[in-house]
Amino acid sequence: MIKKINPASSLKGELILPPDKSISQRAAIFSLLHEGVSEVKNYSQAQDPQSTLSCVQQLGAEVKEEKGALFIKGTGRSHIKTPDKDLDCGNSGTAMRLLSGVLVGAGISAKLVGDESLCGRTMTRIINPLEKMGAHILARNSAYAPLFINRNEALKPLKFELPIPSAQLKSCVLLAGLFGEELTQVIEILPSRDHTERLLSLDQKVIQDRRIISASSADEIPNQSYTIPGDFSAAAFWLVAGAIQKDAEIKIENVGLNPTRSALLDILSEMGADITIENERMEGAEPAGDIIVKGSDLKAVEIDPKIIPNCIDELPVIAVAMLFAEGTSKIAGAEELRHKETDRIMAMAKMLKAVGADFKEKEDGLIIHGDPDFTFSSATFESFHDHRIAMASAVLSLKAQKECTIKDAESAAVSYPGFWEDLAGLMR
Ligand code: S3P
Repeated sequence: MIKKINPASSLKGELILPPDKSISQRAAIFSLLHEGVSEVKNYSQAQDPQSTLSCVQQLGAEVKEEKGALFIKGTGRSHIKTPDKDLDCGNSGTAMRLLSGVLVGAGISAKLVGDESLCGRTMTRIINPLEKMGAHILARNSAYAPLFINRNEALKPLKFELPIPSAQLKSCVLLAGLFGEELTQVIEILPSRDHTERLLSLDQKVIQDRRIISASSADEIPNQSYTIPGDFSAAAFWLVAGAIQKDAEIKIENVGLNPTRSALLDILSEMGADITIENERMEGAEPAGDIIVKGSDLKAVEIDPKIIPNCIDELPVIAVAMLFAEGTSKIAGAEELRHKETDRIMAMAKMLKAVGADFKEKEDGLIIHGDPDFTFSSATFESFHDHRIAMASAVLSLKAQKECTIKDAESAAVSYPGFWEDLAGLMR
């Protein structure tokens, strides 16, 4: 699908975002592991969480929908079913990596498949620790999906220092560890999103700046009855769109504000953005609140590589903010972006090139020379079937002088099905 975007002279309005994708997927998986019924309110309709939901149904969860809530009857850890068909994870790395942990822990044999993008993403990072825990995993070229997962020997506990700051990898190992009698421990040096630890109330200790998270079969799996907050990663597009537009005021209600996800707020504040947070509260184990953004003059920023895991999904749209900020901005230490739904550093560079930006692509990031008066006539953007590249390109299109074109615009539905309607609703 091709989308044509007109320039915006003003952006105004109030938005309710799609429910958080990471929390939705965990709600489905952890409800499967909980013995009993979880009432999950505000489960995401986006493609990734729907892929996860159908996988957990194949593994034995019974799902009923009533008055906007999902009632998920879990099997508990001991009665997970062997699926009679392939588990289709669609575009979702979170589904494939977290479910692999569950399958290995439970000793269930299954085949995990995904779309072309997911089959091009390395699974070596999960195969290595899961094999140490006793799994046998057959992967295409030893690294890529489809994955055939099997475990014939006893589950072994693992003490695992994360080689990369990845919440998917951390969660995969902890989920397998939840089935073992002895403790499995994951040691984290740079904190990545901590939804798994929060929602499962896992034991955590900090020793000399290292976080040690433990899991074993002695951990009870809590009931997953809560309301999922709006997705901060979806809010990111409007926070940047509002910050770079001279005449803008956007209020985003009920957004997840987990500090391991919300580094963009600190980055935009450092750039001089006008952002206010109201109504801060807890939604179950997760903080949430309303955010108001208004247009302002931005200045350049160098992102501390240590906080890259806390803004990893927001970097495509952060690059757009940097283009309209006075001075030279820098993203470094973000090599992981090359392993996302597409090689996002390449895709961000193509997006910036399409508008004639002054920038340099590095192996682990970008250097962008910004200008608050930067302008371009019009552009055609490739999204490489990547939802976040499509949406970041749309935010950039609002600053053109003439209509822009976004290719593969349907990919936005992977995380944000109502994105194009919300965008149209803000344009004045
Ligand atoms: C996610 C973790 C991150 C993030 C992805 C969702 C999760 O991936 O980019 O969109 O739900 O755990 P990595 O763990 O690979 O960094």
